[in-house]
Amino acid sequence: MIGIIGAMAVEVEGLKKEIQGLKITKISGMEFNEGTLNGVPVVVAVCGIGKVFAAVCAQTMILKFGVEKVINTGVAGTLVKELGVGDIAVATAVCQHDIDTSGLGDPVGMVSGLNQVYFKTDKALEELALEAVKDDDIKCMSGVIATGDQFMSNPVRKALIHETFEAIAVEMEGGAIGQVCTINNVPFLVIRVISDGADDNALMDYSVFVKQAAEESISVVKGILASL
Ligand code: ADE
Repeated sequence: MIGIIGAMAVEVEGLKKEIQGLKITKISGMEFNEGTLNGVPVVVAVCGIGKVFAAVCAQTMILKFGVEKVINTGVAGTLVKELGVGDIAVATAVCQHDIDTSGLGDPVGMVSGLNQVYFKTDKALEELALEAVKDDDIKCMSGVIATGDQFMSNPVRKALIHETFEAIAVEMEGGAIGQVCTINNVPFLVIRVISDGADDNALMDYSVFVKQAAEESISVVKGILASL
C-alpha cells in the first residue's frame, strides 16, 4: 500500500475522486481514503498544514495502514531562479529549516537524537517522478526541499534558507514526513509544484496559482502510480 499525503484538499482531491473501492476511516480528525488507484493499493489523506499534522498523518499511515512507501504531493515556494511558478521540485532530501539548537553548538536544522539535518528520499521514486513529467515546457529539478512551520514571504529569510541548506524549494510538511518515514524505515518522496516565489509577492502568486500547481503535482503522482 502506498500512502499519499497532501496538506490541503486541493492537493489530493484529484486523486481521492478516482479511488476504486473507497473506504474512509477517520483518525485524529483526518480522513484516510483507502482503495486502489490504477490497480495500486493506496491510502490518501489531507493532513492539514504544518509539521505536526504531517507527522501525525505519516505515522498513522505507517502504523494503521501498513504503508510501504509514502508520497507527499503539493505546492511550494521556489528558492532558486531556475524554478518558476508551474515548475517542479522533486526532493532528493528534505530538511527542517526551523529546527535550531545552534545555541548548543549544533548545526542549524539538525534533528537532535537522530543527529542529522537531511532525510534522504527514495531514489527509485525520485526517478519515477522525473520520468512522469512529460511536458517539455515544465522545468523539473531535483534537490533539497526545506520545511518549516512558516509560510515563506520574506526575501531575506528565503535567501538564508537557500544558502544554509542548498534548498531549492520551501514548504511546510515534507521534512516532518521525511523524519517520520526515516525513523520507521519507510521509503518516501516529496514532490512539489511551485506556486510562488516565497518572497514579497508570495501571497498574491500563491492565491492565483495554488490550484493549478496542486493539480499538476497530482498528475505527476498519477504518473508514478502508473509505473509502479
Ligand atoms: N507552500 C507554497 N508556497 C509556500 C511558501 N511560500 N512558504 C511555505 N510553504 C509554501
